[in-house]
Amino acid sequence: MNGIANILNKKEFSKEDIIYLLSVKNKDDQSLLFQKAFEVKLKNIGKNVYLRGLIELSNQCKKNCLYCGIRGGNEKVNRYAIPDDEVIEVAKYAQKLNFNSIVFQSGERSDSAFVERISNLIKKVKEVTNPKLRLTLSVGEQSFETYKNWFNAGAERYLLRIESSNKNVYNKIHPNDELHSYDIRLKSLENVKKAGFQTGTGIMIGLPFQTVEDLADDLLYIKKLAVDMVGMGPYIEHADTPLYQQKDNLLPIQERLELALRMISVLRLIAPTINIVSTTALETIAANGREFGLKVGANVIMPNLTPLKYRESYLLYDNKPYLNEVTEESMKELTSSIRSIGQEIAWDEFGDSIHYLQRNKKN
Ligand code: 5AD
Ligand code: SF4
Repeated sequence: MNGIANILNKKEFSKEDIIYLLSVKNKDDQSLLFQKAFEVKLKNIGKNVYLRGLIELSNQCKKNCLYCGIRGGNEKVNRYAIPDDEVIEVAKYAQKLNFNSIVFQSGERSDSAFVERISNLIKKVKEVTNPKLRLTLSVGEQSFETYKNWFNAGAERYLLRIESSNKNVYNKIHPNDELHSYDIRLKSLENVKKAGFQTGTGIMIGLPFQTVEDLADDLLYIKKLAVDMVGMGPYIEHADTPLYQQKDNLLPIQERLELALRMISVLRLIAPTINIVSTTALETIAANGREFGLKVGANVIMPNLTPLKYRESYLLYDNKPYLNEVTEESMKELTSSIRSIGQEIAWDEFGDSIHYLQRNKKN
C-alpha cells in the first residue's frame, strides 16, 4: 500500500499524518483523500445536506481585524442595521422556502442597545415561526452573561471563529490591543460552550504568515475543543484592508481553494459527526465551490437571505458574490445540483450536529 492509503486507513491521525494529508499535491492522492472524507460523511451523516439561511443583520463593527472589508476603520463602507421588522420578514421568507434554520451574523458590538436588540430579535423570530426555526448567532465576543441571556431567549447555536489557533498568526492579523486579544477569544469560545450552545468555530485558510503546520495545529485544536460545527474557508484579500499589503505572499488562489478542500476532508476524518459548512468563500473562488465542499466532506450550506440592498455593504473580501437572490427557482436549482452529487437537502430535519446530540445525551 502506498503512503496515503496507509494513512487513510488509520483510526487516529497524528500531527505528521495530518501534515502529510494537507500537503498532498498529486491529483490521484488528493482524490483518494476526498473520496475517503466523502465516505466518512456518508457513513456518519448520510446523504443529508443541511441548509441555513444567512441574514447579515448589520455591518456596524467596533473591531478592526486587519483582513476584513467591513472593519470599523474602513470609511468607504456605508454602515447599516436592518430594521427588526425586515429581519422578521426574512425569517418568515426562510420558512416559506422550507428552511428549518437561520443564522444571524453581524459585525461586533457589545453595547447594551445591541445586546437587547439581539435578545428581542431572538424572541420575535421564535414567536412568529411555527414550527420554530433553529437559530444560530454569529455576532462575536460577548460576556458569559450575554451568551447565557441569548441562549435562554431561545437561540440554539453560536459560531465564533478562532480565525487562527496560533497566537503568533492571530496577533499578526489583528491589531495589537485589548479589543483583539487572543486570550479573550479563547475564553469567549469556552463561554459559548458553557452557556449551552451547539458551538461552532473555524479558521481562515491560506493566511499570510500561516504554515501547513499551523493548519494541522488548527485542526487538532478544533478536535480538542470538541466543537459541534465548523465553518472554515480560504482567506481572500480585500483591497481596503491593511493585510492587503501581504497579497504577494499568498498561495495562488486555486491552490488556496484546494488547500481549503483538503482541510475540510481532513477535518471530516478526525471529527466524523460534526457539521461542516461549505463556505461562501469557496464559491468566490470557483462557481461550483460549494458543491466541491460537499463532495469532500462538508454537509452544510448557508444560502444568503440578506435583502439585496444591503449586500454590497457586507463585503468581507473582494469578489464576494452578492447578487444571487434566493428564490423558489434558485432553490430548485440548488436542490438538483446537490442531487447531482449524490446528496439530498434534509428538508425535514433541523440539522442539529450529531456530535452535539451525542455529547448532550451523555451529560
Ligand atoms: N477572507 C476570508 N474570510 C474572511 N472573513 C473575514 N474577512 C475575511 C477575508 N478577507 C471571515 C472571518 C470571520 C467571518 C465572518 O468572515 O473568518 O469570522
Ligand atoms: Fe468586525 Fe468580524 Fe470583520 Fe473583525 S471579522 S472586523 S469582528 S466584522
